[in-house]
Amino acid sequence: MGTGKATSIVFAREGAKVLLVDRDPAAAQETLEVIEGARGVASIFEADVSKIGDCEALVEAAVERYGGLDILFNNVAIISLGSVVDADEEEWDRIMQVNVKSMMLTSKFAVPRMAGAGGGSIINVSSVEAFRGGANQLIAYSVSKGAIVTLTTSMAVQHGRENVRVNGIVPGYLYTPLISGFLSDEDREEIRDRRRNSAPLGVEGNAWDIAWAAAFLASDEARWITGVMLPVDAGLLATMPPAMLQYLK
Ligand SMILES: NC(=O)c1ccc[n+]([C@@H]2O[C@H](COP(=O)([O-])OP(=O)(O)OC[C@H]3O[C@@H](n4cnc5c(N)ncnc54)[C@H](O)[C@@H]3O)[C@@H](O)[C@H]2O)c1
Repeated sequence: MGTGKATSIVFAREGAKVLLVDRDPAAAQETLEVIEGARGVASIFEADVSKIGDCEALVEAAVERYGGLDILFNNVAIISLGSVVDADEEEWDRIMQVNVKSMMLTSKFAVPRMAGAGGGSIINVSSVEAFRGGANQLIAYSVSKGAIVTLTTSMAVQHGRENVRVNGIVPGYLYTPLISGFLSDEDREEIRDRRRNSAPLGVEGNAWDIAWAAAFLASDEARWITGVMLPVDAGLLATMPPAMLQYLK
């Protein structure tokens, strides 16, 4: 399960009315069925979040369907492999558009709505790749995730007085469709093991770990938290390089 799906389900379980935004409505349909099956409230909005018109429309749809917008969960990302030497210019631009520009565009229309209604909570999904280079050859993705850190802290400062809180989640090595799609059947289990063993807890993370963190950051209990990048990573960012980690075994 992906983090968008799990977070939507947890939000709905907590009583939120959820607009499920995806460019692939079939992916959102599964989420809708789970939420409605548990008597939650949700609906689908098909949009490409790299397009400004779609982002304006999705914010308007949330307001029209549910009477306002209190929480924005910016979660979409795509991956491309390679170093700067391999980087394809068009592919680089596409990654920045989908992973970073999308968060600026949704926020551009969401912030005034939230501020006008007394405040809100925006949660941007980054990655440990923003803070630690080298584990993977994913330069465009890593740079996009680094930009999300600056976007998050800057927005938190600029919109604090409007009571719009802006925080980030920094996932570690989760097992989700984004990752499983990149693994072949031959090396899948070995790579899952390696990802799991890279962090102090030695436990594989999944989409629910991100969903629970997002639910907390969205809640009134987090009313005094803004500008934070919260690692949800089994301790990965706290560790020394893997070569020093034999003691974990
Ligand atoms: N899986 C991990 O190990 C991991 C680690 C660190 C960070 N993250 C982050 O978590 C987030 C979600 O990852 P996931 O693994 O759950 O992904 P996922 O592939 O399960 O979900 C991503 C969803 O985004 C949708 N999407 C893609 N481009 C879109 C666009 N232009 N407009 C609208 N929708 C679009 C896809 O259809 C898909 O449903 C991403 O931000 C990712 O960078 C994941």
